[in-house]
Amino acid sequence: MTMIATPTTTPEPLVITEQTFLGQNFIAGEWQVADTTFDNMSPNHTNKLVGRFPNSTAKDVDAAVRAAVDAYPAWKKTPAPERAKVLYRLALILEGMKEDMAREMTLEMGKSLEEARGDIQEAIDMAYYVAAEGRRLFGQTTPSELPNKWAMTLRQPVGVCGLITPWNFPIAVPSWKLLPCILAGNTVVFKPAEDAPLMGQRFVEAFDQAGLPKGVLNLVQGIGNQAGKALVEHKDVRLISFTGSSETGAQVAKTCGEQLKRVALEMGGKNACIVMEDADIALAAKGLAWGAFGTSGQRCTATSRLLVQSSVKDALLDKLLEHTHALDVGDTNEGAAIGPLVNQAQLDKVLRYIEIGKNEGARLRCGGERVNREGFFVSPTIFDNVTPSMRIAQEEIFGPVLSVIEFDTFEEAIEIANGVEYGLSSAIFTNSMSQAFRAINELEAGITYVNAPSIGAEVHLPFGGVKKTGNGHREAAETALDIFTEWKTVYIDYSGELQRAQIDNY
Ligand code: UN1
Repeated sequence: MTMIATPTTTPEPLVITEQTFLGQNFIAGEWQVADTTFDNMSPNHTNKLVGRFPNSTAKDVDAAVRAAVDAYPAWKKTPAPERAKVLYRLALILEGMKEDMAREMTLEMGKSLEEARGDIQEAIDMAYYVAAEGRRLFGQTTPSELPNKWAMTLRQPVGVCGLITPWNFPIAVPSWKLLPCILAGNTVVFKPAEDAPLMGQRFVEAFDQAGLPKGVLNLVQGIGNQAGKALVEHKDVRLISFTGSSETGAQVAKTCGEQLKRVALEMGGKNACIVMEDADIALAAKGLAWGAFGTSGQRCTATSRLLVQSSVKDALLDKLLEHTHALDVGDTNEGAAIGPLVNQAQLDKVLRYIEIGKNEGARLRCGGERVNREGFFVSPTIFDNVTPSMRIAQEEIFGPVLSVIEFDTFEEAIEIANGVEYGLSSAIFTNSMSQAFRAINELEAGITYVNAPSIGAEVHLPFGGVKKTGNGHREAAETALDIFTEWKTVYIDYSGELQRAQIDNY
């Protein structure tokens, strides 16, 4: 039996007018319409068209890659402090665009206006932060083993980079890739998610206004398995940076592996928040409601498992249920705090997992249904009596579903937290310093929060995860430069003689 409720309001048929927004590709500094388009719908209303965007083919991707190849030598040669000036201007331009863009983001992918502003602010912060790297990009100098010989390292760009980004942070996540990539002297073909192409276009418009030379950044809109695939497969693309699902990431890695292409992947999470009995329970409950249901749970860092010590489970759940019932779920264009899922496929997936949870014997404490209105809404859902091996405790759902698992000892909590394939974010609420530090050491995750939920990364700290979450890279922070640069090692012999290195001095 399916529990999927049908919305009571029947959507109006789609109306295409002369005012319909027609998105474009941006190739070699020219905005271009494509031969075919795809429809970008607003998730708050099933019949509301945001715009039509290029359904780019391998031919469009090839034109964009050629533009990036042509622009590369001059951009590589431009001194890094000069390249950085574009990013300072970009920050100012984004500040000016922020409010309009936030409204469009809410319309396009459904997150609340407040969260949308934060998404853009993250890119502004990132722009200032990365621009300052233009005067650093430090390498190392180190003694040579021989006299009168100099040894040092320096960072060089990789070449043409293909950047493929998700819809859930349609400006913030692209900024983690685009800004360090461009600052480092690479040229780019950018393929935004098909659920957030308008934000991709706005970001590129801002770069264009900031005076980025033609061809340094090219935008190709389209569908993952056509435009995205062509970009990953293109032989002149030296690096792919991808954020998205683990299934797609594995495909991307396979192709890059075959072509010996550099690849940086940031994928799923099944993030646990541990609440110990000595924790501030009121704080933990507040934190959990935000960590689990902010962005309707559509963050790879979302808290999707609550591991709670048995003695405080009832007290914590009572408070958490209170916060959850108080959440304002609705049309985010009209100010609601919690919006819809991004599309029909995500809605279907989340409702499927809710059914799986029920069939596995978990106890539904709240939510568990499609909200009875137009758009892709699911009410914030909490499952209790979840065991660590259930699918709802193991698999990424990417929606407003929290699985509650009870434990007795700290050791048990760590074992459950680590007992999944992913390792992105994690959290612990405790007032014990020793438990906090043990959790920091023992949780298998790229990020650990103490007395805060699993979301809310800051741009100057490394972002990424262990195990199946990624392939060893860290975005944002200085660590992003390790993705987007190659190390050059330089030896300068000023002895005037042929000096053999120790290895050849037998
Ligand atoms: C993501 O969901 O892909 O830390 C990134 C956070 C956000 C980023 C999430 N700043 O929750």
